Amino acid sequence: MEKKFKRTLITTALPYANGPVHIGHLAGVYIPADIYARYLRLRGDDVVMIGGSDEHGVPITIKAKKEGVTPQDVVDRYHKIIKDSFEELGISMDIYSRTTSDIHSATASEFFRHLYDKGEFVEKTSMQLYDEKANQFLADRYVTGECPHCHNPKAYGDQCEACGTSLNATDLINPKSAITGNTPVLRETKHWYLPLDKWEPALRQWILEGHKEWKTNVYGQCKSWLDLGLQPRAVSRDLDWGVPVPVEGAEGKVLYVWFDAPIGYISNTKELLPDTWEKYWKDPESRIINFIGKDNIVFHCIVFPAMLMAYGDGYQLPDNVPANEFLNLEGDKISTSRNWAVWLHEYLRDLPGKQDVLRYVLTANAPETRDNDFTWAEFQQRNNSELVAILGNFVNRAVVLVKKYYDGVTPAAGTLEEVDTTTLAEIGTIKQALSEALDTFHFRDALKEAMNIARLGNRYIQETEPWKVAKTDAARLATILNTSLQIAANLAIAIEPFLPFTAEKMVKMLRLGSMTWDDLGRTDLIPAGTTLGEAELLFEKIEDETIKAQTDRLARIKEENKVSQWQPAPQAPDVDFDTFMKADLRVGTVVECEKVPKADKLLRFLIDDGGEKRTIVSGIAKYYKPEELVGKQVVFIANLPPRKLKGITSQGMILSAENADGSLTVISPSAPATPGAQVK
Ligand code: 2FM
Ligand code: ZN
Repeated sequence: MEKKFKRTLITTALPYANGPVHIGHLAGVYIPADIYARYLRLRGDDVVMIGGSDEHGVPITIKAKKEGVTPQDVVDRYHKIIKDSFEELGISMDIYSRTTSDIHSATASEFFRHLYDKGEFVEKTSMQLYDEKANQFLADRYVTGECPHCHNPKAYGDQCEACGTSLNATDLINPKSAITGNTPVLRETKHWYLPLDKWEPALRQWILEGHKEWKTNVYGQCKSWLDLGLQPRAVSRDLDWGVPVPVEGAEGKVLYVWFDAPIGYISNTKELLPDTWEKYWKDPESRIINFIGKDNIVFHCIVFPAMLMAYGDGYQLPDNVPANEFLNLEGDKISTSRNWAVWLHEYLRDLPGKQDVLRYVLTANAPETRDNDFTWAEFQQRNNSELVAILGNFVNRAVVLVKKYYDGVTPAAGTLEEVDTTTLAEIGTIKQALSEALDTFHFRDALKEAMNIARLGNRYIQETEPWKVAKTDAARLATILNTSLQIAANLAIAIEPFLPFTAEKMVKMLRLGSMTWDDLGRTDLIPAGTTLGEAELLFEKIEDETIKAQTDRLARIKEENKVSQWQPAPQAPDVDFDTFMKADLRVGTVVECEKVPKADKLLRFLIDDGGEKRTIVSGIAKYYKPEELVGKQVVFIANLPPRKLKGITSQGMILSAENADGSLTVISPSAPATPGAQVK
C-alpha cells in the first residue's frame, strides 16, 4: 500500500553556475522533476519544488581567474542565464535561488556550527598539496595529474573522469598546480571531517532495508559504497571562495562545496516559506524527493543524509532519490569544457516556441535506466512523426470537424454506440497506467500512456468516419464529434505535466476551465453548446535545414576540439643509430610541381637533387597550390625503392609535419642549402 503523505518537497540538483545548463541536465533532472511536480499539483497535492544555482567550488574560481574577473561575476552571469532559461522552458520551480545568498550562508554556517558544537566532527591535521608560487593550498580541481587507478594523465584532484574514481589530490601521480603549472609541495593543514563510518549502520538500515523500492541504479550504487566501507570525509577546504568555516582559527578556510550545496535545499525552502519551511523538512507526514543525476548519488544518499542524522532535530531523510543516468550527444559524452552540448539558452534562441518539442524528445528518450543518446535526427523524427502526425493531427481534426459541421459550437451527444463507450472507457484504463508510471517515476512510460490518448483519438475518428456519417446521419455525427472533443479534453489534462505549453493552447482552443487529475476520465469535460476557440496548429514539421544548422554546428565544434585537444603522438619504439643512418635524407629544390590528374591528394614534383633531377609524388595537394612550391627547397628520403603512384614512378618521399588539424606542412631548410646536400 502506498503511504499517504500530506505534502511533498521536490528538490532539483543545484547546477554549478560555471556554465549554462544543457540537455543532459534537463533530461536527467529538471524535466522529470517538473513532470512530477506538475502531476502532483494537478492531483491537488501540497507540493513545493525548489532549485537554485550552486555557486561555490573550485571550478568557478578557476574560470574567474582565467577570465580575469571575480568569482561573483562568473556566478552572476550564469545564474541569470540558467534561471531565465529554466523559466522559459516551463520548469515550474517555486523558487530558484542561489548559494551566494545571505540566507544560505547563514543556514550553512549554522549547520556546521551545530555539528561542531555537538562534537560531530573529527579534526585532523594532514599534509596537503601547496603551490608555493601561488601561495595557496590546492584543493580538488586545482590539481591535475595521473590517476593512480587507470593512469589517465589528466585526472583531477577530486575525481578521475576517465575511470570515475573519487580521489584525494595527494593520490595523484606527478601532480601539477592548475594555477601555475608548478609541482606542488606538501604542507600541513587542519580540516574538519564528518565520520561517515559512524553513520554506516544507520545508512545501511535506512537504504538497504528500508528503501528496496528505489531505482536499481540508485540502490545498487549505494550498496556498493556501503559494502566498500565508509571513511571520514573532509568538509572544509583551504580556499577563499565559499562559506567561511565559522570556527575560531579557521581563517582562510571555507566549507567544502558539497557540504554547503545540499544545505541549499534547506535555505531555499526557508527563503520561499519563512514561516512554514520546517513542516516540509521535519513533519513525518511530509516527504522529500531529490531529483539528481547519477554522479550525485553518493552525496544525496550517503553524505547529506549522514549530515542530517548528525544534526538531528527532526530533519527527515529523502523518501526517494530517482537519479537518472547520463545523456550523450550524437554518440559522445556531453562536456561543458569541450562545448559538446546542446545548451538550453541557445536552443530557446535557435528554435523559438519549441519548448514542448524538447521536453517531449528528452522525456521519450530519457536516460532512466541506462545512458542514452540524443541525436538531432531523432529529434526531427519524433517531432514530425509523433507530435505532428499523432498529437497535433488528432486535436486539429477534432476541432476542424466541429468548425466545419457545427460552426465551432460543441454538439450534444446522443445515444452512445459501442465504439463510443469502449473508446471512452479506454481513457480510464490509460489513466490508471499513466498514474502508476508517474507515481513510480517511470516518465518515459508515462509519456507513452499520455500519447496513447491521442492515438486512441485518431483511431476513433478513423473508425467512425464522421465525414461519411455527415452525409447520412446528423444525430450520429453530433455524438461522434462530441466524443472526439471529450477525448481531446482528456488529452489536454494527460499531457499537461509533459507538454505544458501545448496543454495551455488546448485549454484555450477547447475552452476548458481549470483542470485536475480527477477530471481525467470524465466524458463531459466540454459541455454541449461550448463555442471552441480558434483552431491552432499545435506542432509544425521541422525541416531538414533546421536540423542541418544544428548538426553543422556540432561538426564545427568537433573540428575545433580536435585542434585544442591535440596531443603529440606517443613516441615510437627506439631505433638503433645504424638503422637510422641508413635513411639517406637530402635537400632538393622544386623545379616543377603540378597536380596529378584524377587524384585529388597527389602532386608530382621534379626535384633538382644536385644530379640528374628526380620525380617524386607526394600526397600534399590539399594543403598547397603547385605554383607556391616551385623554387622552394624540401627535404626528401633519397634511397627508398621507386614506387608507382597513379602510373607515375616516385623516386623518394618528401617529408612533411602532420599538424593538430591533420594538415601537412612541408619541411624546408631554414636557409638556402645546396641541392643534393645530405641531412645529418
Ligand atoms: O553536480 C552538480 O552540478 C552539483 N552542483 C549538484 C549539487 S546538488 C545539491 F547538493 F545541491
Ligand atoms: Zn582513472
